[in-house]
Amino acid sequence: MNIIVTGGAGFIGSNFVYLELEKHPEDRIICLDKLTYAGNLATLEEAMKNPNFRFVKGDIADKECVEKLFEEEHPDIIVNFAAESHVDRSIEDPGIFLKTNIMGTQVLMDACRKYGIKRYHQVSTDEVYGDLPLDKPDLFFTEDTPIHTSSPYSASKAGADLLVMAYHRTFGLPVTITRCSNNYGPYHFPEKLIPLIISRALADETLPVYGKGENVRDWLYVKDHCSAIDLVMRYGREGEIYNVGGHNEKSNLEVVKTVIKQLGKPESLITFVTDRPGHDMRYAIDPTKIHNELGWLPETKFEDGIRMTIDWYLNNREWWENIISGDYRNYFEKMYVEK
Ligand code: NAD
Ligand code: DAU
Repeated sequence: MNIIVTGGAGFIGSNFVYLELEKHPEDRIICLDKLTYAGNLATLEEAMKNPNFRFVKGDIADKECVEKLFEEEHPDIIVNFAAESHVDRSIEDPGIFLKTNIMGTQVLMDACRKYGIKRYHQVSTDEVYGDLPLDKPDLFFTEDTPIHTSSPYSASKAGADLLVMAYHRTFGLPVTITRCSNNYGPYHFPEKLIPLIISRALADETLPVYGKGENVRDWLYVKDHCSAIDLVMRYGREGEIYNVGGHNEKSNLEVVKTVIKQLGKPESLITFVTDRPGHDMRYAIDPTKIHNELGWLPETKFEDGIRMTIDWYLNNREWWENIISGDYRNYFEKMYVEK
């Protein structure tokens, strides 16, 4: 099969490219990525050596570019990771989130209608459900939880999901959606909590924790998310949504303390900073449906995943040091130094 992976130069997309090349050597993987600040070709260096892999630089919201690729590659499956993905950036400047996350999805699906495909898979997020209260630990997001978004990012992802379901109902497009909780692991861009804490702690810099650090996220090792997408896009039922998560809830403060303990750094580096506006309190996924229908279960325990992640950042300093010394440094200073 020919599989177009959009956003494959980013965090989860690149981990997915590597999983597919290893697990399905009979398939051809074509990565379409605009290489925004979050896309990094260095991440795909090993994939580039594989004859079953092709990288194309382009924008999913550019109809001409997308149609040209469909004409060249005759894809069977499209899996759409491409997105503006950082909540804080969406609060600073929402426009590009709407363009890429919603309009980009529309352009991709219109190409799917025009040329025909076996499956369009949308990589979505638990953030479309809004948040849960801290004092009701028995509540979880199911696929039937109503959409109730908090940030421009989550609203743009929810808009895309609604469009995907509309294309299924109106045009019969064979679609699936996965909604996953917070990922962590190799190639995670250092603006996100875990890699940010690792890179800053290693430099003995302050570790910004929003508000009181009580907000809870449901952390999943990235490879487990990728294996779930692989199953759903191949065997999931058309027109269905599958939640992905591993029942691994941690408060932000717990996560930060775990990382600094493993790095042997002092807790005095922790600095409580102004909270994120509209900050979601708790995410918690109920993954019963994907487990019952497709047999998916996460394989990586948090203790192992976080150790592997820290080791990866220790052993791949060049990868993230190149990032934090560039444009990102200016972004970080704008976000935190002026506060
Ligand atoms: P990321 O920011 O690390 O990577 C996004 C990639 O998309 C980058 O390579 C970027 O260059 C590319 N891209 C951005 N705009 C593009 C465009 N217009 N055309 C083509 N490529 C473009 O993001 P990530 O954390 O890997 O997330 C990937 C997907 O998974 C997103 O759709 C996100 O909403 C979803 N998701 C993320 C998480 C998480 O914890 N990170 C959890 C659930 C779902
Ligand atoms: O739940 C899935 C979502 O997880 C994905 O859809 C998003 O693309 C992804 O970025 C992630 O969103 P979060 O906002 O949860 O991730 P982030 O790493 O930005 O923040 C995790 C938590 O840590 C959140 O409660 C905010 C907090 N935080 C974050 C940063 C960057 C801090 O306390 N300090 C920080 O410096």
